[in-house]
Order: sequence, then C-alpha cells, then structure tokens
Amino acid sequence: MRKIVAVVVATLTVAGCASVVGETDYGHVALDLIKQDFRSKGPATLERVTVQDDAQQLCSTFPKERSSEVNARIEAAQLKTVKLPADGKYLGKWQEGEKVAQNGRGMQSSDALGAPNGGNCYACHQITKQEISFGNIGPSLYQYGKVRGGSDEIVKYTWCKIYNAQAYTACSNMPRFGHNGVLTEAQIKDVMALLLDPASPVNK
Ligand code: HEC
Repeated sequence: MRKIVAVVVATLTVAGCASVVGETDYGHVALDLIKQDFRSKGPATLERVTVQDDAQQLCSTFPKERSSEVNARIEAAQLKTVKLPADGKYLGKWQEGEKVAQNGRGMQSSDALGAPNGGNCYACHQITKQEISFGNIGPSLYQYGKVRGGSDEIVKYTWCKIYNAQAYTACSNMPRFGHNGVLTEAQIKDVMALLLDPASPVNK
C-alpha cells in the first residue's frame, strides 16, 4: 500500500498536474468526453474549451510552482501579441466604457456571431464609487487615473494590460480582452477613458 501511495505521489510531482493519478490522465479523459458530447454553436465554439495556446499549456503544466524564467517567457510572448491603437489615440468615451465594464454578456451559444461583447470588469474590480456591486478577485481600480497620472508609460501599460493581461502577469485570472477578440479596439478605448480620463467618475 505504501508503495502505491509513493508511486502516485511521484507521478503527481513529475507531471506537475493534479489531473494525472496513477496511470490515468483524467485531464485527457475529461477532454475526450467534452469533444464527444459538446457541439459548437455560434460564438461558443468547442475549440475555446479544447484547444490551449502556448501560454495556457504552460499555465496548465505549471499551475502553481512556476519558475520566474517560465513566467518571463509567457509574459514576453504575450506582450508581443498586443496591437496598439492604429490612430495612436488611446482614450475614447468614459460613458461608453462604463457600459462595457457593466456588461457581462457575450460569446454564449445564444449570442449572434460577431455581436459586441461586454467586458464584465465589475465582476472582478471595484471601478466607480457609484457602483457598489463588484467582485474583488482583481484590485480596486477606483481613482486609477488620479493615483497613477496620465503619462505615456501609464497609458501604454494600461492598454497592454487590458489587451492582454498576461503581458505583465503570467497566467493571470483576467481575460485577454484584445488578444481573444472579446473587446474591439473602440471598446478598449472607451474602457481606457473610464480608468484614465480626469472627467471620469473613477477619478473624482
Ligand atoms: C475574471 C476577473 C477579471 C476581470 C473580468 C477583469 N479583470 Fe482586471 N484584473 C484581474 C486580476 C486578478 C488582476 C490582478 C492580476 C493581474 O495583474 O493580472 C487584474 C488587474 C487589472 C489591471 C492592472 C491593475 C494595476 O494595479 O496595475 C487593470 C488596469 C485591469 N485589471 C483592468 C480591467 C478592465 C478594464 C476589465 C474589463 C474590461 C477587467 N480588468 C476585467 C481580474 C479581472
């Protein structure tokens, strides 16, 4: 019995992934079941669940103990995916940004292909003081622009962060809004204004 336990522990350590127990790779068993039973419909495609890109593969292989070298590799590759606004303008309308931040809809099987999505930012962040219903997985963004200012560095960092959160935090919980085509360039500009425009209620 002791020997079996030792084998299981050794397997878990080597694989670095809790889905492998003994000889069975439960991650792949689950994946096969999903591929067999799920169907793509509209924007809710099967590939979104079954196909991992390089960053997702590394994050799954090293869910907890990642070396700083692996983190740096993920972040450098993700930063390269970021597209800066074509016209060089980073801020849109904060009023529209507030709507994007509030909206948690999109990319479901019942949504039309190509329909605009929400950013659902309030699910994880405090943003304006007026909205008292928010999640706290992410840090509070209240007074973001007031505290950080509007330097070129801050504006560009914020754009890249929203476009691809993993550009600065490997395996972040925050969705990669631009990279994954969740938000359009115009929507990201509006959310940027919500965080950075001095006239936005975030910075009052
Ligand atoms: C599922 C949760 C989640 C959602 C949804 C989410 N975020 Fe985040 N966000 C996080 C987490 C967690 C962090 C901190 C870790 C990190 O930096 O990646 C973060 C960090 C940030 C930061 C960096 C803050 C700093 O101190 O530098 C910004 C800016 C940000 N989020 C903006 C947004 C915006 C704008 C939206 C909506 C378009 C959004 N987030 C949606 C979870 C989320």
